[in-house]
Amino acid sequence: MALNRREAIKRGALGLAGVAAATRALKGSEPKLHQAHQPGASAAVGEVTRAGIDPLVFLEHFDGGVVSRHPSGKTLRTYEIHAIDKEIEVAPGVFFPAWTYNGQVPGPTLRATEGDIVRVNFRNLGTHPHTIHFHGIHQARMDGVFEVVAPGESFVYEFEAKPFGLQLYHCHSVPLKKHIAKGLYGAFIIDPRTPRPAAREMVMVLNGFDTNFDTENEVYAANTVPFAYQKHPITVRRGELQRVYLVNLLEFDLINSMHLHGNFFHVYRTGTKLTPDEFTDTVMMCQGERHIIEFAYQDPGMFMFHAHQSEFTELGWMGMFNVVEQTA
Ligand code: CU
Ligand code: CU
Repeated sequence: MALNRREAIKRGALGLAGVAAATRALKGSEPKLHQAHQPGASAAVGEVTRAGIDPLVFLEHFDGGVVSRHPSGKTLRTYEIHAIDKEIEVAPGVFFPAWTYNGQVPGPTLRATEGDIVRVNFRNLGTHPHTIHFHGIHQARMDGVFEVVAPGESFVYEFEAKPFGLQLYHCHSVPLKKHIAKGLYGAFIIDPRTPRPAAREMVMVLNGFDTNFDTENEVYAANTVPFAYQKHPITVRRGELQRVYLVNLLEFDLINSMHLHGNFFHVYRTGTKLTPDEFTDTVMMCQGERHIIEFAYQDPGMFMFHAHQSEFTELGWMGMFNVVEQTA
């Protein structure tokens, strides 16, 4: 009988030790799920150290590019982005042959202010044709769809950053599903000219990996590494405004979500307005959908955040905020 991910879960192989075993099993040997069966376990054993990103660094890293003056007088932000084939660790001991921007999944979080000129020097150092398709308002020839960049070739994207909000970028080569599932995507923040209120800022790109190529995800995460923020909770100061740039790039599953414990958050849909659209503790997201969420904690302690799809949670999309006093 074919052993798939859902079957593995049904058999009680909770957590990524189970996924790793299931993956090994699928690669030809006999199913050995009983070895991985750990009642009550919901986090993987061991650390992911070769993911290509450090989730705690990625969380708060925003790339403003190299800044100079454009002939028009506007701010010019220049980025170097290379498509690179790279094997990344997506669960302890489980490697995935990713296609990456700059050797990392997600690609760097690009950041500009509305009205800036964004210039991206793109080189395809991979083995398949790729592009960078930016969400935003720009010319057709800068849309990263028609100008497919062959291996060894390059292309320069240049456009004005607009509208302000939380955008994204991803490869638009066909089959699109594959180029996204392989890891070619990232967040693209366009700040309003009048900045948002001061806050501690984070980016979470929701994703997953199909480690056995059956067009279903075996692992789920915020920022690639399953359970990263559960094992290493994100320290948050009590009372401080938190702003999370949340982008859903999960392939294969039609819907994803973000649920926060012990609190509610304001949702700014696509980040294109400065007034919140909703006050809730759970927001649903289709692929490509993104929101800015804002919240502050009034009490110290550990608070979970995770997908409200329990299955995704058990397979890695789970984290914790550790709320501490201001002085900490
Ligand atoms: Cu591609
Ligand atoms: Cu898109």
